[in-house]
Amino acid sequence: MRISFVCLGNICRSPTAEAVMRHLVAEAGLTDAITVESAGTGSWHVGHPPDARSCEEATRRGIEMAGTARQFDASDFARLDLILAMDQQNATELVARAPDAGARAKVRLLREFDPALRPGADHAVPDPYYGGPEGFTDVFDMVERACRGLLDEYRAGRLAGA
Ligand code: 4NP
Repeated sequence: MRISFVCLGNICRSPTAEAVMRHLVAEAGLTDAITVESAGTGSWHVGHPPDARSCEEATRRGIEMAGTARQFDASDFARLDLILAMDQQNATELVARAPDAGARAKVRLLREFDPALRPGADHAVPDPYYGGPEGFTDVFDMVERACRGLLDEYRAGRLAGA
């Protein structure tokens, strides 16, 4: 199962989700079964490392952040089983770039998997880039809950491509 997390810049939210999910997958002994990656819909930060504020929060939590930003490419749809957008704006952008219905069906919101989210609540992982450090802490908390939910769905055999 190959999962990609997608935000706007690929320097804050999606590298956080990639790092958290990789950590949880390793903890669960599922490294051979699930691969994770991330990308941005935008190109401004291509080649940049993750934001220092994300890295600081990761270090506090004992999670390793790695990689450099890349832009999501339409050719990625064929390689991936699940494409998890951080907010509706990025999901809409991904759907617009999808070549066919099969590709469109792979696009979902990460927070659909957050068990703490009430029906009708905003499903966004809010962009922390222009805010204070607490925004980065909130991103980690939301992402971790959703990634645990995602792993539970995988284990229950409820994810397409599993
Ligand atoms: P991300 O955050 O989408 O979570 O990586 C952002 C980083 C940079 C910008 C926007 C969002 N930017 O406009 O440069």
